[in-house]
Amino acid sequence: MCGIYGIASRKSITNKLFHGLKKLEYRGYDSSGIAGISQDRKCHVIKSTGPINNLKKRLKTLPNIFTGISHTRWATHGEPLLKNTHPHHSGSINIVHNGIIENHEDIRNFLKKKKYSLTSDTDSEVIAHLINYNYKKCNDMRLALVGSVNVLEGSYAIGVINSNLPDKIFAASSGSPLIIAKGKNENYIASDISPVLNDTQKYLTLGDGEFAELSSEKVIVFDKKSKILTKKVITTNIKDEQVSLMGHKHFMHKEIYEQKEILNEMKNRYVGHTSLLPNIFGPGTDNLLSKIKHVHFVACGTSYHASLVAKDWIEQHSTITCTAEVASEYKYKKINILPDTLFVCISQSGETADTISSLKKAKKLGYKDTLAICNVAESTITRLSNLVFLMNAGPEISVASTKAFTSQLFSLLLFSIIVSRKHGCAERKMVSDIKQIDKIINSIFRLEPEIKKISSKFKNKDHTLFLGKGGSYPIALEAALKLKEISYIHASAYHSGELKHGPLALVDKKMPVVCFLPDNYLAKLVLSNLAEVEARQGQTFIFTNKKIPRKNKKVEIIKMPDCPDLIVPILYIIPAQLLSYHVALKKKTDVDKPRNLAKSVTVE
Ligand code: F6R
Repeated sequence: MCGIYGIASRKSITNKLFHGLKKLEYRGYDSSGIAGISQDRKCHVIKSTGPINNLKKRLKTLPNIFTGISHTRWATHGEPLLKNTHPHHSGSINIVHNGIIENHEDIRNFLKKKKYSLTSDTDSEVIAHLINYNYKKCNDMRLALVGSVNVLEGSYAIGVINSNLPDKIFAASSGSPLIIAKGKNENYIASDISPVLNDTQKYLTLGDGEFAELSSEKVIVFDKKSKILTKKVITTNIKDEQVSLMGHKHFMHKEIYEQKEILNEMKNRYVGHTSLLPNIFGPGTDNLLSKIKHVHFVACGTSYHASLVAKDWIEQHSTITCTAEVASEYKYKKINILPDTLFVCISQSGETADTISSLKKAKKLGYKDTLAICNVAESTITRLSNLVFLMNAGPEISVASTKAFTSQLFSLLLFSIIVSRKHGCAERKMVSDIKQIDKIINSIFRLEPEIKKISSKFKNKDHTLFLGKGGSYPIALEAALKLKEISYIHASAYHSGELKHGPLALVDKKMPVVCFLPDNYLAKLVLSNLAEVEARQGQTFIFTNKKIPRKNKKVEIIKMPDCPDLIVPILYIIPAQLLSYHVALKKKTDVDKPRNLAKSVTVE
């Protein structure tokens, strides 16, 4: 969602602030703005709506600034208009905010009584006035900040500058991510590590209820009682090139191709000759996981689709029962927990608000343990969960998730093997299947020119259907989500057997029907479902390694390489990712930053 980046420096940071902010563009891009203090202690603000490049035009109106904060906004309260764009200002104070202030109406009323005039429709503006109000009372920024956030309800990561204290940035966080990075004669605040990677690898995370005061020289972290805290400084191994395009036209394309290396690395790290390496989920976890009788998976979007695949894997290979719930439902449901149930949440970002509140709820219920499968090491979800498994897929920049999905699947496949061991799953065979991913993935990438050609048949469509059965059904869901997200074509996914129970009514000669048909024990059934489509002259696109005759021009067969059934979900999603990508290219949409969506959904 919104992105925050701020620098306290000895040198001019005007351009640097802009370029760093661009690295956060993927989080949300309705509007953006910069506020910075120049040597004459004056505060200068620029704002623009639309993509961050629009802000570039205004950059030259800024003088040299040495302390500054910047923001990319993903609108929640108030339309993406200039008046709602951050930074928000009040007197000598300018603030940027990520999160949601639930009691902003009450605070507005309070501020109006104090003769403050509010000019935006946002919940964030109240923070600027509140800090100004408190600062004027006590003339102490630390106290003013603590006093102000004490009345805020909701979630926030806040960056503040005060032109009376021209070399300082203040920050506060609760329920929204904020890191403090330490550089040479420069220190930074940021929503994530990506804008600072050119300057430093060292950072600390600001926890809930923690505050920071930064200058170019020092970083001071303190709590609500003004007690100075000693925080662990982390060194990230993420490199700047991981958040750069490296010759690809889009991050989505780069990330689709990164899947080969990521999966190969995961295999080398966790898979032995004939079995998995011991305790890959942490010390003592093989024993702990062998006692699990039930698993409750909770996640959102693509991560939820990964959990559906895992449910299928585990139930196929053991007597363990699994449920998979979307987090936005789980947190409002009555949950029945049998003994020896493990809670597993899956999240690329580790900051998805719905998943975080589900995890918090789970921790209060009677689970044996909580496990997080996550891509971001220092995230709220990894901090909250008892057990953590890091996917290590590297930063995913494109809003549409690709490499996170397959690395979640790989992690969940390892998890499925471990929990199913005691139930006699054929680990040796499964391991040998996993080892084939590397080879098969190359043949899949070779399909790109063919997929590109096919994509033109989707370009002018408004609706599509995606079908799968068994382990391929979640792939149909995920493929449909990808197409919807980036090409804005409506796509619905069904179990192929469900077609005749309703959706078949939609099929006519214009309707494209995409089907994932690996050659397994379900293939014959899927083929008869497809015959129902063909009988209605539907246009079918079949991803399959089964030899099936191409009866007419309305049947498009995308010949997939042979592949063990176990790894079908990991491999069959890749051509679907490429298909969405090429359809979106043809439709000239903003592939990496689709409209209305944000990378990390930090509001409920
Ligand atoms: C789709 C997509 C979203 C996320 C969902 C959960 O391409 O990226 O559906 O999967 O918002 O996000 P994480 O995994 O970060 O919790």
